[in-house]
Amino acid sequence: MSSYLKLSGISKSYGQFTALQTVDLDIKKGEFVTFLGPSGSGKTTTLMIIAGFEQATSGSVEVNGKSLFGLAPHERNIGIVFQNYGLFPHKTAAQNVYFPLQMRGINKAAGMRKAEEMLDLVGLQGFGHRYPKELSGGQQQRVALARALVFEPSLLLLDEPLGALDKNLREQMQIEIKRIQRALGVTTIFVTHDQSEAMSMSDRIVVFEKGRIQQVATPLDIYHRPETKFVAGFIGESNLVDAKVSDAAKGEARSAALGKVEYAVTDKVANDNDVTLMIRPEHIRLSRNPIEGRKNVRMKVETIVNYGDNALVIGMVEGQPMRVRVLGADVVIIREGEEFCISWTRDSVYMIAK
Ligand SMILES: Nc1ncnc2c1ncn2[C@@H]1O[C@H](COP(=O)(O)OP(=O)(O)O)[C@@H](O)[C@H]1O
Ligand SMILES: [Mg+2]
Repeated sequence: MSSYLKLSGISKSYGQFTALQTVDLDIKKGEFVTFLGPSGSGKTTTLMIIAGFEQATSGSVEVNGKSLFGLAPHERNIGIVFQNYGLFPHKTAAQNVYFPLQMRGINKAAGMRKAEEMLDLVGLQGFGHRYPKELSGGQQQRVALARALVFEPSLLLLDEPLGALDKNLREQMQIEIKRIQRALGVTTIFVTHDQSEAMSMSDRIVVFEKGRIQQVATPLDIYHRPETKFVAGFIGESNLVDAKVSDAAKGEARSAALGKVEYAVTDKVANDNDVTLMIRPEHIRLSRNPIEGRKNVRMKVETIVNYGDNALVIGMVEGQPMRVRVLGADVVIIREGEEFCISWTRDSVYMIAK
């Protein structure tokens, strides 16, 4: 893979505290990459090091084969959007967007024309004369996006840009940001702690935990083939079952709660190793009686969480909580306190070695 943005061995300490530990990452030109992770996992720190607002304790950042070492933020040609829009309140939308061009010595007539073009692109045609306080949160964020893009940056960095917006507006802006990013082909890093946002927007997702990268992969790989227990638990609903490999060649493990469980053999793990088995709730079937050809166990239903089109049925199997996704229409026959069979096939059991 030819890399456009290359992070090599980045670490960052604040006194005794290590915020980032040897972050290595390659991003291709035009890619839309999301940094996903819980609060405090190092996403913003990584972004700030790329942007030049923070200095790494060690490691290097390269764009297009050139080191950014020693360059001030404004010399890096990077566009940034933060959660709190950071617009100048006493400038109009168009003047805000013109500002980075003004800093680069572009004359007012040409710069304002370019600013208006950018406002059109982000869906704010005719809003150029308005002041930030005359715009909604979503519109202000569009202005911030236009301002970050107007000078044709080599990278676009977005740090939780939709965090302050309500759900509907958020989803609308997710689609807008993708459309604009595709139209311009700008290499983008988008930071979020919202897994569904990461899943729906990204070419690839970088999962952070405690200052380390846990996994870098496409959304589907992250969901179906998580490399660590943390990733499996952080993305989507999942059943994570502790087990010990009993027959590595056949793909069999033993769990205290579920007994012998067959898993899809994807990774080589020797007998007697402790592993985690992941079964997604949508791969488990709930029935009155056992179903032939599947692994069946009995589960007492404890809680039903209704989402309308589907429901999550949560129960216990020998002290092991299990979650089962059922269709909304099917949930009416299920009562809390009742016993059911839950079943699955080997294909649905994904073994995680770490
Ligand atoms: N200036 C600072 N001084 C000390 N600790 C900091 C500083 N900035 C960030 N940190 C710590 O570094 C860790 C990573 O922070 P951050 O990158 O902001 O996380 P995220 O963006 O993933 O929520 C956190 O534990 C945070 O408290
Ligand atoms: Mg942050």
